[in-house]
Amino acid sequence: MSKNVLITGSEGFIGSHIVQLLLKKKYKVRAFVYYNSFNNIGWLSSLDKDELKKINIHFGDIRDEKNVLAAFKNIDYVIHLAALIGIPYSYNSPKSYIETNVLGTYNVLEASLKKKIKRLLVTSTSEVYGSAKKIPIDENHVLQGQSPYAATKIAADKLTESYCKSFDLNATIVRPFNTYGPRQSNRAIIPTIITQILNKNSLKIGSLTPKRDFNYVENVAETFEKILVSSKLKGEEVNISSGKSISIRDLIYQISRLLKKNIKIKVDKSRIRPKNSEVNNLQGSSKKLDRIIKAKKISLNEGLKKTIDWFKNKENLIKYDTDKYIL
Ligand SMILES: NC(=O)c1ccc[n+]([C@@H]2O[C@H](COP(=O)([O-])OP(=O)(O)OC[C@H]3O[C@@H](n4cnc5c(N)ncnc54)[C@H](O)[C@@H]3O)[C@@H](O)[C@H]2O)c1
Repeated sequence: MSKNVLITGSEGFIGSHIVQLLLKKKYKVRAFVYYNSFNNIGWLSSLDKDELKKINIHFGDIRDEKNVLAAFKNIDYVIHLAALIGIPYSYNSPKSYIETNVLGTYNVLEASLKKKIKRLLVTSTSEVYGSAKKIPIDENHVLQGQSPYAATKIAADKLTESYCKSFDLNATIVRPFNTYGPRQSNRAIIPTIITQILNKNSLKIGSLTPKRDFNYVENVAETFEKILVSSKLKGEEVNISSGKSISIRDLIYQISRLLKKNIKIKVDKSRIRPKNSEVNNLQGSSKKLDRIIKAKKISLNEGLKKTIDWFKNKENLIKYDTDKYIL
């Protein structure tokens, strides 16, 4: 019998890839989509008609307890991705992060208990580790709130941990390191680099020295599914990481080589995070996950090629306004 799964943040970057994968794997998918005035279903609109027909769309707001509970009707499995994710915007609007990321997760946890959900994945982020005390970063690394975004994700993780310990909830905290690929917002580093180079041959960027561990979105989606059906990791946290890191400067050179362009880099001060907020090196350890799950990982070069191909399609690129710097 097919599994009934609810995905929050389903219309976002990672969510839309997970929805497509689960449809392929014959899950019955309910997609929680952020209610808005425009009937906009985000990246789900780029799915084909046959895929869309199979999805049950539930409009709502993760901050609204009653609405979230209604979305859980006849659901066995839940993947919770809905969140505000931009770090710069979290400096300006921290309360909205508390409401969406903390209260939103509380609503998901409560609904999971009330509706006796069989298995829940709560999405964390490598940003919760802050600047590395030791490399590679494993799940025992200290958690540090270096931005309001990271702080709200730590709170959501700890709340989830407490529901597992206190109420025996079958949840896992899934902690992806930087994820990239088609459909990502150009607030994120790889789309920013690709779209600026494709449009202008020059590049305005923040800090060049931080290092990040990049993971291709389709591999991340596959890993989520494997964790969802695993009987292990109950009440635990687990990294999704490549185990490698690259500096932003080297990443720019790698992308410009793939695009065969010589580019000028201009440092844009407005994009530089406050000194103590910047996280210098996020390089994860995937040992824990690798012991439990065999997950496919394509190389950064391979993933960048796929991402560049997607952005080279004019229909896709048109959605990205590279002249504006958006938080
Ligand atoms: N992209 C990455 O590199 C990365 C890395 C680690 C963790 N994550 C986590 O993965 C998850 C998905 O991130 P993403 O990169 O796909 O970002 P995204 O911004 O594309 O997706 C976030 C989703 O949350 C939804 N959302 C926001 N506020 C909501 C509300 N009030 N009610 C209902 N829905 C709401 C948005 O509509 C969107 O669909 C997030 O929890 C994020 O913290 C992302």
